[in-house]
Amino acid sequence: MQNKYLGITPPMGWNSWNTFTHAINEELIKETADAMVASGLKDAGYEYVVIDDCWSLRQRGQNGELVADPEKFPHGMKAVADYVHSKGLKFGMYSCDGTHTCAGYPGSFEHEFQDAATFASWGVDYLKYDNCYKPAHMDGEMLYKRMSLALRNCGRDILFSACNWGHDDVWSWIQGSGAQLFRSTGDIVDSWESIKNLALSQMNKTAYSGPFCHNDIDMLVVGMYGGSNDEYIGGKLGGCTDVEYRTHFSLWAIMNSPLMIGCDIRKMNQVTKETLTNPDVIAINQDIECRGPYVVPGHDPAAIFSLVKPMSDGSLAIGMFNLGDKKAQVNLPFWDMGIPAAAGVGLEITDCWSHENEGRFTERYAASIEPHDCKLLRAKVSLG
Ligand code: GLA
Repeated sequence: MQNKYLGITPPMGWNSWNTFTHAINEELIKETADAMVASGLKDAGYEYVVIDDCWSLRQRGQNGELVADPEKFPHGMKAVADYVHSKGLKFGMYSCDGTHTCAGYPGSFEHEFQDAATFASWGVDYLKYDNCYKPAHMDGEMLYKRMSLALRNCGRDILFSACNWGHDDVWSWIQGSGAQLFRSTGDIVDSWESIKNLALSQMNKTAYSGPFCHNDIDMLVVGMYGGSNDEYIGGKLGGCTDVEYRTHFSLWAIMNSPLMIGCDIRKMNQVTKETLTNPDVIAINQDIECRGPYVVPGHDPAAIFSLVKPMSDGSLAIGMFNLGDKKAQVNLPFWDMGIPAAAGVGLEITDCWSHENEGRFTERYAASIEPHDCKLLRAKVSLG
């Protein structure tokens, strides 16, 4: 590896799947790269433009190589990568550990080293590696280790995004595979239930994630508003409210998930842009130590809880969540965070969404939070 810091913090970028599924092409990718720069997303830290499934021909070429679909990508993938790079961005692609990808295109099974070389020759910087059509007798752990090794020896720095949906106890072996990301969940869809269920499913897994190996709760649906071309992902669901998208972004940020945008960034509205580029929220996600947050349960732990993440500057990032359907009082007793009020220790609290300094608190902080809403705070520990 040339870049020894590759993947030290969760990657940020855009992925084609949630909104476009199979309907991808060179124009879309170029326009998306343009939009990433023009909209300010790049300046906010987003850098990867990733093509998901459905980019290749249905058959490999004469030498067993993957071939980009010439109708979708008439100038080949290298040209797309060059364009993305010319914008100061990085380029990502997709393959699968099985014989086929989830949408039925050729997978990399038994072609791992050849495909890694192909991706390197095209200028790929990021590979998402799915888990469909894996031969039943094959061990998934070994296949992820194999592709990781191939990528680490292909002559180019390629971030490895393992996507096995949390199967095979991925938490217990993924660190040793060399992957920088591990998808821990099934697919997100553009609905509040999906956001809620994915986040809750990882509450007891936060300790498994750290620098260079991040728990990937799946891509963001912020700003989609039901805009997927796939009915299941969101076309029929109608999407979420802006408050729900903001809570989704807050959860993903404090849980150290990659921030991979799934909406059409060429057409983002102002609220979506403000949500996705909030520097205080992104700073929580990108903290260099990547410490997973711990949970302080509320009175209904399945819906009401706080997440506390120790930051490298000594402060705390605190997310207070009401995933329930009724307004709730969320109470955060400082005892539960190791803060001894009797010794005069307190927290100076700033709200990361309103950017207001709320002052200094001792013993506890409490907030009344609307359904599906949250508070995301940065708290400086002060001795009074
Ligand atoms: C799986 C993955 C998704 C997406 C699709 C593509 O379902 O989990 O994120 O990549 O495959 O077919």
